[in-house]
Amino acid sequence: MRKTALLVENLSVKMGNKPILEDVSFEVKEGEFWGIIGPNGGGKTTLLRAILGIVKPSKGRVEIFGNHPEKAVAEGLVGYLPQRIEGMVPFTARDFVELVGGDGNKFLKLVGMSEKADTPFEKLSGGERQRVMFAAVLSRKPKLLLLDEPHTGVDIIAQDSFYSILKELKEKGITILMVSHDVGVIVNFVDKIACLNKKLKYTGNPRGALDCKLLEELYGTKMEVFVHHPECEGCHIYRRS
Ligand SMILES: Nc1ncnc2c1ncn2[C@@H]1O[C@H](COP(=O)(O)OP(=O)(O)OP(=O)(O)O)[C@@H](O)[C@H]1O
Ligand SMILES: [Mg+2]
Repeated sequence: MRKTALLVENLSVKMGNKPILEDVSFEVKEGEFWGIIGPNGGGKTTLLRAILGIVKPSKGRVEIFGNHPEKAVAEGLVGYLPQRIEGMVPFTARDFVELVGGDGNKFLKLVGMSEKADTPFEKLSGGERQRVMFAAVLSRKPKLLLLDEPHTGVDIIAQDSFYSILKELKEKGITILMVSHDVGVIVNFVDKIACLNKKLKYTGNPRGALDCKLLEELYGTKMEVFVHHPECEGCHIYRRS
């Protein structure tokens, strides 16, 4: 039996009086790759923040390899790539990775950023910053990786290498939870999908998440689904007019 990497049990989160997450429960086994989809404002980022213990639940609990989130984070079991990287970072790309404790050269090479290792962080584009941040997160060798829309602003070629990095991590037994809006693409990579719109609408086989009725309920729009293979760069979900 594989170990449980992440247990989310009856998790509810409120902001003021507004319910953001309601009674969310799921279990991720070690080595699984999960995709989390759902509309803007559906609570995906909040879920990741609650898993990290940054947001306190009004109900329910989270366990990471049997630990309380704070302990798991303190022990370096969890890596988190946030949706937005804000603020000034007065370092070069290499400094930044080394600062969080990793081998700058190795991990910048992995994300295709060696040539810009000596570029000040501020002079990097949004996508490049995200790649440097990804290198920094990986350099800490987490066992559970939480990625919040990691490919936003990353071009197609970089996306391909990004997915091959994820495949490698998965082969090493790293557990991955990735928020994404590219439903048509991620179904080709993930083991399981969780569809979130305040409540968990679906968890399970990724193909099941392509059901039009479910997407309609999730996104509130009539959807027609076209899925292609990842090689064709043409994976889209078209809105039916
Ligand atoms: N700090 C906060 N204070 C008040 N409300 C918040 C806060 N953070 C998030 N919310 C609200 O919680 C809801 C869920 O936000 P969240 O960022 O988790 O959504 P999301 O699914 O990640 O959306 P997106 O796809 O746009 O990234 C939204 O209605 C948002 O306005
Ligand atoms: Mg978000």
